[in-house]
Amino acid sequence: MRLLAIETSCDDTSAAVLEDGRVLSNVVSSQDLIHAKYGGIVPELAARRHLETIDEAVATALERAGVSLEELDALAVTRGPGLIGSLLVGISVAQGLALATGLPLIGINHLEGHVLSAMVDSDIEFPFAAMVVSGGHTSIYLARALGDYVEVASTRDDSAGEAFDKGAKMLGLGYPGGREIDRLSREGDAGAVKFPRGRVRGDRLAFTFSGLKTAMWDYLRAGEHGRSVADLSASFQEAIVDVLIDRAREAADSFDVRRMAVVGGVSANSRLRGRMTEVAEEEGLHLSFPAMSLCTDNAAMIGFAAHLRLAQGLPGEELSAASRLPLGPRHEGR
Ligand code: KG4
Ligand code: ZN
Repeated sequence: MRLLAIETSCDDTSAAVLEDGRVLSNVVSSQDLIHAKYGGIVPELAARRHLETIDEAVATALERAGVSLEELDALAVTRGPGLIGSLLVGISVAQGLALATGLPLIGINHLEGHVLSAMVDSDIEFPFAAMVVSGGHTSIYLARALGDYVEVASTRDDSAGEAFDKGAKMLGLGYPGGREIDRLSREGDAGAVKFPRGRVRGDRLAFTFSGLKTAMWDYLRAGEHGRSVADLSASFQEAIVDVLIDRAREAADSFDVRRMAVVGGVSANSRLRGRMTEVAEEEGLHLSFPAMSLCTDNAAMIGFAAHLRLAQGLPGEELSAASRLPLGPRHEGR
């Protein structure tokens, strides 16, 4: 079965073609340069840029895969959550294609895409715990089966990606900052500054990063500190990675987890990948990371989720209803 998937939930315009779950092409057109000068994503600009790039992304994905529209069996699109203007561009194009070709169209939850991205190139099987660490989300899900995800931990304030991006902004680095901090930290001393490792009283699994952000702000405001940007980056990164690792361990213990996946943009972080690998060895966990190209937002993960759902006869998300997040009991009623 050949499938074309479209993902435009935030600031990356992406289209991918898959054949029986194998990724034939995965085109990502980044908007980083557009948003860099604002130090964060400007939703109106993101939606307008998607409009300009989506047709070419789709055409290039088909061309690279060597597949024509006529040879497709299904279409998939990110249904949400995400920026509404951005989502609408992808959904409108997908609906237009469905109308023109008569192909079935399946709506996919962006977070399900991230969770299942760990399965694209690895042998990890259900059930597993998935730590989703991205710019929009920081949560741990128990992925019990396809379509059965229970959120057992979430952040009380910022996501890990936001913490990276805001820390980078304070340090005068580019946007998105996570990658920059990752790169600079390789030359820095992670023990140079002891930044706080945030905890939420009464919830051992919850994440919080606002205190860390404030600590960096206070540290920089205090004036001459004699530390290099590399040292500050490495220390800041270590605080985030420590928190993520602590919660991953806690979730593994609490829910008797044997398999774990770390997914989303922040899962591209080299320090997190290295340290999580050590922890997994110590704890006897089967650990899975997506390939680098599948960590940040991409249409291949959406196509893969659609492929699994179609193969098992599971429906996708309603494309005409209001956006919701059907990923477990904690979200009911939101
Ligand atoms: O998954 P993603 O592309 O978008 C959302 O769904 O939110 O994640 C983007 C986030 C950004 O905050 C970015 O700074 C972060 O992922 N990121 C990284 C790295 N690469 C991307 N954070 C830390 N280290 C990296 N190497
Ligand atoms: Zn994402």
